[in-house]
Amino acid sequence: MGIDVVVSRETDPEADALGVPVYEPATPLPPGAAELDERLGGRLTRLAGEGELRGSRDSALVLHLDGELKARRLVAAGVGDRGNVDADAVRTAAGAVARAVKGFGSEIAWRLDGDLPVPLAEQARAVVEGTVLGGYDPGLWKTEQAAGNPLERLTLLSRGEDGVEAAAGRAATVSAWTNRARDLANMPPNELTPERLAERAHELAGEVEHLEAQALGPEEMQRLGMGAFGAVAQGSHNPARLIVLRYEPPAPRSRDTVLGLVGKAVTFDTGGISLKPALYMEDLKGDMSGGAAVVEAMGALAELQVPLRVLAVVAATENMPGGGAFRPGDILRAMNGKTIEVINTDAEGRLVLADALWYARQLGATHLLDLATLTGAMELALGDLYAGVFANDEVWLEQILASAHASGDHAWPFPLHSRYRRYIASHFADMKNASVLKQGSPVLAAEFLREFVGKGPWAHLDIAGPAFFRYSRGDYLTQRGGTGYGVRLIAELAERMAEA
Ligand code: BES
Ligand code: MN
Ligand code: ZN
Repeated sequence: MGIDVVVSRETDPEADALGVPVYEPATPLPPGAAELDERLGGRLTRLAGEGELRGSRDSALVLHLDGELKARRLVAAGVGDRGNVDADAVRTAAGAVARAVKGFGSEIAWRLDGDLPVPLAEQARAVVEGTVLGGYDPGLWKTEQAAGNPLERLTLLSRGEDGVEAAAGRAATVSAWTNRARDLANMPPNELTPERLAERAHELAGEVEHLEAQALGPEEMQRLGMGAFGAVAQGSHNPARLIVLRYEPPAPRSRDTVLGLVGKAVTFDTGGISLKPALYMEDLKGDMSGGAAVVEAMGALAELQVPLRVLAVVAATENMPGGGAFRPGDILRAMNGKTIEVINTDAEGRLVLADALWYARQLGATHLLDLATLTGAMELALGDLYAGVFANDEVWLEQILASAHASGDHAWPFPLHSRYRRYIASHFADMKNASVLKQGSPVLAAEFLREFVGKGPWAHLDIAGPAFFRYSRGDYLTQRGGTGYGVRLIAELAERMAEA
């Protein structure tokens, strides 16, 4: 697995396909495509005139070559209207090329073009991400593997401009870890149990330096007083795991800053006694996407040797109905001593996060970020593109938003406000885990989490929309299932924190 990414100054590379960006309308051609057009005696211009080359986003026109270039095919990849070209358009074009090439080859070259309104280093990053993420195959469990070869090599053609090589190498690493998070999300819940996810964390710690893994079981969790997490876990025959990963680089920029990443890893969410309806319940295998992103992002940070201390706490459990399951009406005591009345056992994510967040703070996290497929209403509100961000600190919020924007893992701010607190006021306990009102579900969930974050900056990413696709998004993430949302954002954030 993994694609080799190299940067080259060649203009006529050997490859199965040479990708080049084109706009819509396709003429006049941008400089890179124009140069190739000349070598091909104006074929691209002719095809544009005939309406076959359009340049629309996500289009990839494959031209069969006969020795005019060293590449076997030229792929004209549409990035759409020049005025709207952004990194996502470049990722999408590269993804289209990756999928087009899969049928006949494994080596892609891509001509960066300085005319695009995206700086070259960013273009390089976007092309790598689009190629690696766009070429992903979720069908790992098919007995007959899909036709075509896995992509092996991507050569970026540039004139040695500043930052291109570094950006490409970094993007290759981060994208590969993103696809590993997708593999975890796509794994069926009979395979990816909490124990299996903990094994994955241990495996990682064995593979990369300065990373250590630890996993607590139900008894240890009980001893720590994790009554909220424990309640969710008690209904399953597969024992829960509280996974702790520590990345301690040898020379961190600061000893005093510890990024604390917290992930919801509900390996299957049936809703528990408050059972979910059957339609699409299979997609709730993706309810561990936040935890998967956190685990694999730790691998990325260690491989990139980011000089920042990072602590990850991933709460892994199933949410099952059964004779041992927790019930609506139960009152739980979380690790921080607060009591919670259970209204709905399907609001389980906030319960597992309550103890995981508090624990991460106890272990020394100075800046907390949690990722969770927390509420269906977040997906209703923002669809599959943006996650919602909630934060108790303006500066921290801005850092998350900037990292989200730069990474392609898009996020948009939502409010926290103490006046939302009444939604979770309980007659019997300190709070309840859900409201029966059809109002503000993502907001009150965030308000609930706030009770467990202790002192210091904290941000919550509700990734229910972009983490796991029921339908294709029609861009470079066309595949159904896990998207690895969060890995790229975390890598960007950690690097920015290390630079500051
Ligand atoms: N994991 C779900 C949210 C979810 C649903 C994410 C579908 C992605 C796709 C979460 O545990 C949940 O069930 N939330 C409930 C909370 C409600 C019972 C208060 C929801 O949002 O419906
Ligand atoms: Mn649920
Ligand atoms: Zn859930």
